[in-house]
Amino acid sequence: MFASGVWLVVQGEQGTIWLALIVMTLSLLYGVSFVVPIGGADMPVVISLLNSFSGLSAASAGLIYNNQIMVVGGILVGASGTILTVLMCNAMNRSLLNVLVGGFGGSSAAGSKGAQGDLVAKEVGLNDMAIQLNYSKSVVFVPGYGLAVAQAQKVCKEIEDILEANGVEVRYAIHPVAGRMPGHMNVLLAEADVPYPKLLDLEDANSFLANADMAVIVGANDVVNPAALDDPSSPIYGMPILRVWDAKHVIVLKRSMRPGYAGIENPLFFHPKTRMLFGDAKESLGKLVTELKNL
Ligand code: TAP
Repeated sequence: MFASGVWLVVQGEQGTIWLALIVMTLSLLYGVSFVVPIGGADMPVVISLLNSFSGLSAASAGLIYNNQIMVVGGILVGASGTILTVLMCNAMNRSLLNVLVGGFGGSSAAGSKGAQGDLVAKEVGLNDMAIQLNYSKSVVFVPGYGLAVAQAQKVCKEIEDILEANGVEVRYAIHPVAGRMPGHMNVLLAEADVPYPKLLDLEDANSFLANADMAVIVGANDVVNPAALDDPSSPIYGMPILRVWDAKHVIVLKRSMRPGYAGIENPLFFHPKTRMLFGDAKESLGKLVTELKNL
């Protein structure tokens, strides 16, 4: 591509169309081969990176055409895309190179074992969960990718309303990379009319969790994995996470013991404070609404 570009400049007018077609074809092939090997869930990072590249090319074109609007607009798009890319990589504790060339996890997946050594994940019944929630003073919902898959945001808000009517303080802990795109959880919860002040960012959520009675994890996995703090061999080691086990009780809603995006086992599921409620998040929360109303 570079050689064709140089040739295009040297040749001047002659053969321009053919060389331009060759450069375009090579660019297309390069673009496809650059993006195709990258894992689906890393796509938001790639989109943001490509967005920043488009800004930089617009700015360069602006310099060539001496067009200040193109230069300023291109720099704004380039800078914001670059900042977003860097923020997403930092929140996942991964380098951009790792996102672009490396797969993520998969080697130490928990599968559907439900056990870690002698530890076995314990389940909770809907009725017990409803009673625990109803008699809590403060409850923190931790939404993740599973909430988006199940589209459980509205029923989650319904539970919030029932609990708040009974004097329970409800908050939502939002991890910066929960879900699969920036602001994924914020958008879903806004759609369900959850008031914005109830959404806590990582630091505020961790302080709130320290005094909370219950943490309810709705389809989140990697963002609450303690291995990020205490297992240097874990691929997510160093990623800031939500310390849900600081709450007095933890209930995890998911369909199975399968791992999340990083493909790794989550010791939280075997923590003495943790209870599992297996099933689709929307269905489980729907049944929980009935239980809460029957109390
Ligand atoms: P994940 O770690 O991907 O876990 C989601 C969990 O939801 C899974 O363990 C799955 O378990 C459960 N689930 C799926 N469908 C469900 C349903 N219908 N009902 C109930 N549970 C369901 O999600 P997370 O904790 O939100 O973490 C996000 C991950 O994505 C991080 O690793 C992050 O680095 C990565 N990532 C994020 C972004 C952005 S910008 N947000 C960008 C790229 C990558 P079951 O299958 O057992 O149900």
